[in-house]
Amino acid sequence: MAALKDAPADARRRRFIVAVSRAAMAAGLLGGYGVFGSVLGRFLYPTGDSGTVWQFVASINRLAVGESLIYTTPAGAEVHVTRRDDTGASEDFTALSNVCPHLGCQVHWQPQHGRYFCPCHNGVFDREGLGVSGPPEGMVLSGYPIEVRDGMVFIKVEATPLVVPERGS
Ligand code: FES
Repeated sequence: MAALKDAPADARRRRFIVAVSRAAMAAGLLGGYGVFGSVLGRFLYPTGDSGTVWQFVASINRLAVGESLIYTTPAGAEVHVTRRDDTGASEDFTALSNVCPHLGCQVHWQPQHGRYFCPCHNGVFDREGLGVSGPPEGMVLSGYPIEVRDGMVFIKVEATPLVVPERGS
């Protein structure tokens, strides 16, 4: 007798559980398709800048006119950040790779001459990174976009992908 009385309550509970399960499943599917659509959209229509980031280098007061520092990017590239003027603008600075375009030796900033020098074959580059004598004459040091914001120097560099360590290693 009691089982017959409880039957409508059980049916309502069952319908409620089925409805909640369907709603949860629909929400999961919508979420999954949304993530998939987002990833697919970025794959089909990549933005040009997705692989670069602005990195803080130093306060502008860190470098006097004619001085240079070596900045190491997250990817390990070494960049000469050199100050050539004192207006406080982005144009005061250059950011140039320290890799010689001739055969890949490291170039050095020579403040006393206002130039970059490659000791491997006596290559000389002007302060803009143009090869002016030796084997790299006419070649250029690779440059990086540079910006001054609120008294701080930033350069735009390749982003470094996250490395996820394998389990057990
Ligand atoms: S590698 Fe720099 S001049 Fe040859």
